[in-house]
Amino acid sequence: MLNNKTILITGGTGSFGKCFTKYVLKHYEPKKIIIYSRDEFKQFIMANEFKEYESRLRFFIGDVRDKERMKRALEGVDYVVHAAALKQVPACEYNPNEAIKTNIHGAQNVIDAALDSNVKKVVALSTDKAVNPVNLYGGTKLVSDKLFVAANAYTGTKDINFSIVRYGNVAGSRGSVIPFFHNILKNGGTELPITDYRMTRFWISLTQGVELVIKALEEATGGETFISKIPSFKITDLAKAMLPDCTMPEVGIRPGEKLHEIMITTEDSLTTYEYDKHFIVYPQMVWNNKQQPDLSGKKVKEGFSYSSDNNAQWLSVEEIRELLKTVDLEK
Ligand SMILES: NC(=O)c1ccc[n+]([C@@H]2O[C@H](COP(=O)([O-])OP(=O)(O)OC[C@H]3O[C@@H](n4cnc5c(N)ncnc54)[C@H](OP(=O)(O)O)[C@@H]3O)[C@@H](O)[C@H]2O)c1
Repeated sequence: MLNNKTILITGGTGSFGKCFTKYVLKHYEPKKIIIYSRDEFKQFIMANEFKEYESRLRFFIGDVRDKERMKRALEGVDYVVHAAALKQVPACEYNPNEAIKTNIHGAQNVIDAALDSNVKKVVALSTDKAVNPVNLYGGTKLVSDKLFVAANAYTGTKDINFSIVRYGNVAGSRGSVIPFFHNILKNGGTELPITDYRMTRFWISLTQGVELVIKALEEATGGETFISKIPSFKITDLAKAMLPDCTMPEVGIRPGEKLHEIMITTEDSLTTYEYDKHFIVYPQMVWNNKQQPDLSGKKVKEGFSYSSDNNAQWLSVEEIRELLKTVDLEK
């Protein structure tokens, strides 16, 4: 489905963008992948890393805040993956207007530019933090999600649709708990601080996130939010897996942090379907008849919710230890 297609990734030099690019170049024969981002140095480094694929890669300097540039970049593009974002919780709290400009205005620019060109599909990345948000990063991503769902109302007779993929913290991603603990242990520490003993998280790898985006590109009809079914773990079990005899002082929840990652709320349950490996939340408002639920799945019961503390699938300490071997902690 991605063969012979031109794909543009906003934020293509980020962790997701690089993993997506590598995956697509390995498994498909795209005509071209365009990396759209601001920093020329990150693009230079990525171009060197991907030298063997240079005939299929293009690097486009541009800001999602710049609608004209976005429009130019989308000429001849079939599919767009929107990954560019400001995503550090404290940075967004301190610079709220910057978060709004990139995460909200940027999202609207991607939508407008896609509607004004011949793009067929747009998949935007969301986060658990957009669900019942408690910080501005989550708040801006919630608005972004709403914009992408509503964009389907403006497609008219055009063959284009917009959908969303949502996941939580990627195992080992910068600023997350695994590299934080790893750093303490690397420097000889034996004390792993836990913000709250009750805290749980989902475990997802970047490759799983990429695979779900490709599924959305293949199957979305418009307005869906795709969510992977993945296991949960307790943060205390993660600490035990990283150092069995560690001490674990409880240090208190950080500003903007949640006890559990929520992917689907009870309110969403009214329009959520369950499939073998994922859930799809369909939009509550339907603007045209292009959007159809995939009826091969089962509608969840009213009142259902999906969060890292009410998951049916849990990782043991031993399983976490095994999974940690797959996480690149030296990057
Ligand atoms: N990492 C996670 O654990 C996680 C979890 C859930 C969801 N997500 C979502 O996944 C997406 C990608 O995350 P990531 O981890 O790959 O982020 P990342 O590594 O921080 O990369 C962000 C990318 O966006 C680009 N960017 C930032 N501002 C931009 C702007 N104004 N215009 C154009 N490009 C811009 C950055 O490049 P330049 O700075 O050079 O422009 C970079 O390529 C985000 O939407 C995030 O909300 C991430």
